[in-house]
Amino acid sequence: IKMNNLLDEWQISQKSRMTNFLKKKLDKISLSNTIYEASNYALLNGGKRFRALLVYAIGEIDNIDKNQLDFIAASIETIHAYSLTHDDLPDMDDDSLRRGLPSCHVKYGIAQAILAGDALQSLAFEVLSSQDFKIKDQQKIILIAQLSKAIGIEGMALGQSLDMESSNKKIDVRLLEEMQKNKTGKLIHASCVMPYSISKSFNLSIESTISKLAFQIGQLYQIVDDILDNSSSSECLGKTSGKDQKAKKATYVNIVGIPESKKIKDNLYSNIKKLIGKIPGNTQPLIYLADKIYSREY
Ligand code: IPE
Ligand code: IPE
Ligand code: MG
Ligand code: MG
Ligand code: MG
Repeated sequence: IKMNNLLDEWQISQKSRMTNFLKKKLDKISLSNTIYEASNYALLNGGKRFRALLVYAIGEIDNIDKNQLDFIAASIETIHAYSLTHDDLPDMDDDSLRRGLPSCHVKYGIAQAILAGDALQSLAFEVLSSQDFKIKDQQKIILIAQLSKAIGIEGMALGQSLDMESSNKKIDVRLLEEMQKNKTGKLIHASCVMPYSISKSFNLSIESTISKLAFQIGQLYQIVDDILDNSSSSECLGKTSGKDQKAKKATYVNIVGIPESKKIKDNLYSNIKKLIGKIPGNTQPLIYLADKIYSREY
């Protein structure tokens, strides 16, 4: 119980650390125009910041400098906010509720929401390449390569494209996994391997364990998301529930059903625990996050 209190505190403090860091970045830009407001809205109005927390949790394994982790975590949260802004657009998932508030395009209009997404994507790379980020240029290039690859034509954008094409279709589980690995898994993978890549005690075999672990966490993240869409309320989720079934999206729930989805979810969870067990160092925050991702209710 004591350990869990400490970890609750860890989560709260890392989350607010991230939000403050992002706020400061935007405050520095400080403009009074629509794209600035819309970007600000999409990035700072809520969010669980699980991806940033994963960055910090990987950092705890090797005591990586938090001042460096901030930049990695911020770049990922910025990409994530862009992806949600575009995901909600009428020609994509057409969702008018996000993080308990009107979606960006509902508040600012479709054109401005598209542009805010564009701006947030670009901000991620501005953050990673900034002079304030005190690591070697060579390492920055590696991080930029990892993030750009994770979100593009072989990553998140591919996954979203497959997602759009697979609505109204009975795709097989292999394609479903391929789609989810790309749309959700690759950014979560980046949240784990990017921070590890700047570790002073970097080790290839540990990196390979972290990489496997990250894909499993990504898969767990999305399967839980699919189950929650089916079984929770819009009030609790802060986004419209039941949308996946209505729009006949290709999700675990729609393709294999709830009981099988829950089985896969439990399997993933136990694999994740095993993989974390292979990682030396302080993995308490990582175990804690895996538990939270498994049992999250929104
Ligand atoms: C929602 O992500 C989209 C998925 C990839 C499942 P989150 O549930 O992490 O969204 P926020 O950031 O907490 O709003
Ligand atoms: C979103 O997946 C994945 C990305 C934004 C890349 P979903 O479409 O399931 O996310 P929600 O349910 O709208 O948050
Ligand atoms: Mg979607
Ligand atoms: Mg969606
Ligand atoms: Mg969803």
